[in-house]
Amino acid sequence: MIEITGIRLNNPTILAAGVMGTTGASLARIAWEGAGAVVTKSIGPEPKGGHSNPSMIDLGYGFLNAMGLPNPSYPDFSGEIEIAKKEADVPVIASIFGGNAQEFAIVADGLVDAGPDAFELNVSCPHAQGYGASIGCDACAVEEITAAVCDITELPVWVKLTPNVTDIVSIGKAAQRGGADAVVAINTVRGMAIDIHSGYPVLGNRFGGLSGRAIKPVAIKCVYDLYAALDIPIIGVGGISTWEDAVEMMMAGASAVQIGSAVHDGPGIFQTVADGIESFMSSGGYRDTSDIVGLAHRRA
Ligand SMILES: Cc1cc2nc3c(=O)[nH]c(=O)nc-3n(C[C@H](O)[C@H](O)[C@H](O)COP(=O)(O)O)c2cc1C
Repeated sequence: MIEITGIRLNNPTILAAGVMGTTGASLARIAWEGAGAVVTKSIGPEPKGGHSNPSMIDLGYGFLNAMGLPNPSYPDFSGEIEIAKKEADVPVIASIFGGNAQEFAIVADGLVDAGPDAFELNVSCPHAQGYGASIGCDACAVEEITAAVCDITELPVWVKLTPNVTDIVSIGKAAQRGGADAVVAINTVRGMAIDIHSGYPVLGNRFGGLSGRAIKPVAIKCVYDLYAALDIPIIGVGGISTWEDAVEMMMAGASAVQIGSAVHDGPGIFQTVADGIESFMSSGGYRDTSDIVGLAHRRA
């Protein structure tokens, strides 16, 4: 059992936003498979169709996606959170987005009654014009958005950061100043693929975000730097597909880990990773996860 921002998790694995998180039933399924908590698909102020296909490709060493934040908007999604809360015996975190602080606050306010356990602010999606990383690169905007959501709710607020900036620490500090209870790092890394036979970009949106195994070292470095600079917990995400990856992320400074792309290998990944972390801790003589969180800083 771990506690993060006042929320209790049976184990440190969490379903990442945007993967299997579009319905209450799919969120509950992942919870039954052993995830310590689940995060919804990012939900915004208006219904949004998303980018044209292809919107996701498997590169073998990771995925490129440009979904474009498709979602039914908060009034139509709140029922899915209610279902997830009823069916899943784990915390349900609502991932939300907007184009400015006011929109974030409206979406959070509109979802509070559905009973999420926390909010995760998506200021980091790399391929939705006017949303996500378009505003998440600006420290002032991140601070303002975080403060606006903290103002309207007592629930914990997590802020999910983009790696597509020169200095992720300055954005993490802005979230902390705005009142964030935790930061989540990282969202996808901006990337592109071109079909050499036709000369066309492969994704419908031309470019998108790289996830999966390829980005693990980028995520580890971001979490390592954030841990050294922030006073709030960090939730690590990016390229985790084994328990060894999760332990590495925790040693960089993550109090818990999210898993996205690796769910493609099967939803049993959460139990496998959680069990692996536990046996690693008992065989290494660690009492609880706090012994390994940030260990690489104490060793270096
Ligand atoms: C298909 C897909 C959809 C995603 N949608 C969202 C989303 O709606 N909101 C968000 O904050 N992150 C989204 N992400 C990013 C993931 O939550 C995660 O930060 C990223 O994929 C890195 O983790 P991973 O390597 O374990 O996949 C998405 C990722 C993928 C692959």
